[in-house]
Amino acid sequence: MRALSLHDGHNAPWLTLIRDGIGGRKKTLETRNRPTRVRGDVLLCGAKKPKGRYSGLAACVVTIVDCRPMTKADEQAACCELYPGAYVWQLDNIRPIDPFPVSGRQGFFNVDYTPPGHDLSRWLNQVHVGDAFDLTEELPAESVDLICTSPPYLWKVHYDTDHPALMGMEADIDTYLRRLIGLVIRYERVLKPTGVIAINLGDTTRNGSPLLIPERFLIAGADEPRLSLQLRDKIAWTKENPPPRSRTGIAKKTLLDAWEHWYILSKSRDWRADLQEWNPDLDASPQEIGDRKGLSYRRLVAMSDHLTPAQKQRANDAIDRTLEKMRSGDLADFRVRINGEHKDKFGNLPGGRKSQMERDGFYVIEIGWETMKRNWISTAVENIEKCGHPAVFPLYIADRVVRTWCPPDGVVLDTFLGSGQTAIAADQNDRDWVGFELSPQYATEAEQRIVAAQVERERNRTLFEFEPESTAETADPEPHPELF
Ligand SMILES: C[S@@+](CC[C@H](N)C(=O)[O-])C[C@H]1O[C@@H](n2cnc3c(N)ncnc32)[C@H](O)[C@@H]1O
Repeated sequence: MRALSLHDGHNAPWLTLIRDGIGGRKKTLETRNRPTRVRGDVLLCGAKKPKGRYSGLAACVVTIVDCRPMTKADEQAACCELYPGAYVWQLDNIRPIDPFPVSGRQGFFNVDYTPPGHDLSRWLNQVHVGDAFDLTEELPAESVDLICTSPPYLWKVHYDTDHPALMGMEADIDTYLRRLIGLVIRYERVLKPTGVIAINLGDTTRNGSPLLIPERFLIAGADEPRLSLQLRDKIAWTKENPPPRSRTGIAKKTLLDAWEHWYILSKSRDWRADLQEWNPDLDASPQEIGDRKGLSYRRLVAMSDHLTPAQKQRANDAIDRTLEKMRSGDLADFRVRINGEHKDKFGNLPGGRKSQMERDGFYVIEIGWETMKRNWISTAVENIEKCGHPAVFPLYIADRVVRTWCPPDGVVLDTFLGSGQTAIAADQNDRDWVGFELSPQYATEAEQRIVAAQVERERNRTLFEFEPESTAETADPEPHPELF
């Protein structure tokens, strides 16, 4: 969980004042000379120096509920005098724990620790029928690694419930966005510090114009003081078979809407992302790319009027070394910039590549696999046989999202489970999952699909598992006579 270090020396025992109080005084306002957007549970740890009761120890869990400039009236709760530029961070729900050693850092850092009461086990691997808002509030704080979900789009699909909590039927855009942001605030509380939200949002068109709901959602989220989530990736899901529409009115003059947004938001800078799992299959093999490019770069080196013979030799050696890395799969691609052949793309600033170019007459840019991962995913819209759900996202995408942004032993939450795709993707990648769905009918169908997917997986496993080869000890010494 997220941790914060505080001084606890004898002269300034801040952590002791928060955890235990001293002489009837208790500190409930932490003061710093900067504000924080962090809200939720934080483990407080004593800095190693100066020495005091909780130096080098984690001592309590608190909930940061607010942050504002300090005033004179805050002095008592902060246990210190007002100073210029001071902010108070309001601490609630102070829970002492059995102290344990931590090696921390200054400021916020992450610690592998689950506070008492944060146990998620009673929720795991089940579909819970109910409202996403209420159920998310019941989940323990900082217990989920990935929220992979697709809320109902505004005024788009008719779902099989008229429950008052149904999303997507709000009277206007502002109400819809307010609800969505309210939900994301709840998401932030239940996410682990390394956690990620992968949210799929579609737009709505009125009179031939998109209402820009995904974009408005991002702006409203960035402006929301209760959120400290950061947008990390904007992914386009391009549909290979977009649903056709009638050729009437304005539709005759606008293009068929064939892609949707997926946004990746993280709670901290330490978010989990295994990009090797995103688009694993790139078009050409590095060997092919390397051989083709190696040839053309060598030709440019040979023909160059700017390089000296020694520089040409060094450039060819560098190309050879790079091709070797391509062959062994260490690199996905590369570029060579040669003096006189290529324009300087780095704003001609001194240092770095510019001085390399002046000294050697060339430089090589190595491109790793991660840098080749593109922010789009292309797949067909799925029409699943015998599935009554009207708005299913592809299992392929849920699978990629789970593999990329949820650690192998992690927990995936989908608060709008629908047909159960997220749960199936989590299950087949051996992650735990939690699913919420408002419609009892969809929830039952999702449960059936999840079990059917498990049975199918088990069947495939046994089909493709080979019998172990007989060893000398276990093999039948003689064929059965009746077989011949
Ligand atoms: C876009 S669909 C999700 C589809 C899902 N991703 C799939 O692949 O099957 C949205 C779902 O949210 C459900 N829903 C709507 N309002 C809800 C709420 N307040 N709480 C929980 N579920 C809700 C709808 O019944 C619908 O099944």
